[in-house]
Amino acid sequence: MADSLSNSLRSDPTRSTLERLHAAARRERFKFLTLAPRFIVGKLQGKSFSQIVTPAAMKDFFIPISPEQGRFVYLVARTLGARNIVEFGTSFGISTLYLAAAVKDNGGGQVIGTEIEASKHARALAHIEEAGLAGFVDVRLGDALETLQNIPDSVDMVLIDGWKDLYLPVLKLLEPSLRPGAVVLADNIFTFKRDLEPYVDYVQSGRNGFESTTLEISDGFEYSVRLNPL
Ligand SMILES: C[S@@+](CC[C@H](N)C(=O)[O-])C[C@H]1O[C@@H](n2cnc3c(N)ncnc32)[C@H](O)[C@@H]1O
Repeated sequence: MADSLSNSLRSDPTRSTLERLHAAARRERFKFLTLAPRFIVGKLQGKSFSQIVTPAAMKDFFIPISPEQGRFVYLVARTLGARNIVEFGTSFGISTLYLAAAVKDNGGGQVIGTEIEASKHARALAHIEEAGLAGFVDVRLGDALETLQNIPDSVDMVLIDGWKDLYLPVLKLLEPSLRPGAVVLADNIFTFKRDLEPYVDYVQSGRNGFESTTLEISDGFEYSVRLNPL
């Protein structure tokens, strides 16, 4: 009985691709320490985190969501029956695989991802192909503020996991396309508490059409629901 139920996370090639990529990311988790000198010099020059740690400086780093977050993202998308999902910050495609697996298991649809680094974009496409999910994903190469200009209406779910200064601009860009009841998840709320304060204030204030709470999953996941217009 259970075998006939759709769950791509437990079936190959998606399962084995995710396992391989998470293992590779775990092996490289301390690689960011190589950026310490650059970080210290940047801070002494009074630069912000985003000015120092640019996408180009991080082009060889996975920096993915955790397996626990991945399963949560998948469950939210399955609960919503999501068929239209947008992601800001694709990197090597780990989070995209969870989203695409859910879209596939929901009966079809599309994940629109975006990645500014060309080499990361190419690797994400290869991983998505390897996982058998290429038919459910469109990863756009370029700056999210441009590549996400053109989004179909009625977006069910958004995952925000790109550079922190763009969380709020990207949310505002996508707002007109969100269907009532859409869920927006945003990562790293604890890691970048100060940088993400404007984002968290915006979704939690009750003035901007969202109800929202910070979940204690991994680095802090902001879970926001787009409310119906009155
Ligand atoms: C934390 S990583 C994403 C990890 C990914 N969600 C995962 O779980 O595998 C953030 C990514 O956002 C990308 N990024 C940063 N600024 C961007 C922008 N303006 N437009 C598109 N992508 C951007 C970076 O190159 C980086 O790969």
